[in-house]
Amino acid sequence: MPLLRRDSMGPSYHVLTFEAPDAIDASPGHFVMVRGATWGDAPLLPRPMSLLEGGLRPSILVKVVGEGTRRLAHASTGEPFDLLLPLGRPFAACPDDRTPVLVAGGVGVAPLLFLSRQLTAAGKRPIVLYGGRTAHDLPLDDELAEVADVRIFTEDGSRGRAGRVTVGLEEALGLLERRAKVYTCGPDRMMAAVAAIAASLDVPCEASLETPMGCGFGVCLGCPVERTQGGYLYACVDGPCVDARSVVWEKQQ
Ligand SMILES: Cc1cc2nc3c(=O)[nH]c(=O)nc-3n(C[C@H](O)[C@H](O)[C@H](O)COP(=O)(O)OP(=O)(O)OC[C@H]3O[C@@H](n4cnc5c(N)ncnc54)[C@H](O)[C@@H]3O)c2cc1C
Ligand code: FES
Repeated sequence: MPLLRRDSMGPSYHVLTFEAPDAIDASPGHFVMVRGATWGDAPLLPRPMSLLEGGLRPSILVKVVGEGTRRLAHASTGEPFDLLLPLGRPFAACPDDRTPVLVAGGVGVAPLLFLSRQLTAAGKRPIVLYGGRTAHDLPLDDELAEVADVRIFTEDGSRGRAGRVTVGLEEALGLLERRAKVYTCGPDRMMAAVAAIAASLDVPCEASLETPMGCGFGVCLGCPVERTQGGYLYACVDGPCVDARSVVWEKQQ
């Protein structure tokens, strides 16, 4: 599948849009295994990325952390890619009597922007608590503001409220008298804190796991996540979107 365009937001964040031969039937929370068709041996394995949208122009948001994401960040228009998609278990629907409250950390915004667009199109505009270390760690914030009631938090106070996004979550759930459903994606430490708050208030919460993966479809057993009920779930086939109460978060950090 050729790359249609790459939109870069500084050196760290890049949106890649591909040209699909047939429409991709994807839902928020689905992911893609992506690898350049001309990459050679390094990196050998494809990289998992949440889908920003499906259809004829599937897209992803990439944060540069290592060799695979660096190559994605430098991809050129027309470059061929191997994409396996849509994969995994997407987010479940928000019950009619609950307000969706989304908690995003940095690049974890990708599946939550897809979800916000879908919820708003269905007449259920969500509240999104969006946190980053600095003002530079909030990619796609403008796009998010078009489809959600966004509240920004930065750890250094350079944008929005100073502090962690979890402070906003306690406030929002209190104001909604717990009639909410929480969806979260971001660093494990943030998701662990979000899951703990939701559980303490008995509010349902789904988390999109970003466990490192090898195959993406249940064959390599390389993505185990310890379950509270005992044993393991496999993030690629049992997730990435899971009930946050089913994860032993201490083992994820
Ligand atoms: C379902 C799923 C959805 C994802 N969605 C996105 C997305 O939308 N956008 C995005 O930018 N990234 C996303 N990721 C994470 C992304 O897959 C990794 O950042 C990427 O594989 C790193 O590849 P690399 O070759 O650049 O880095 P590597 O060279 O493999 O690793 C560089 C450094 O990053 C660390 N690392 C690698 N993978 C992860 C990970 N999954 N979580 C935390 N640390 C990691 C390594 O330990 C190492 O320190 C997602 C992961 C999963 C499983
Ligand atoms: S990534 Fe291979 S089993 Fe999950």
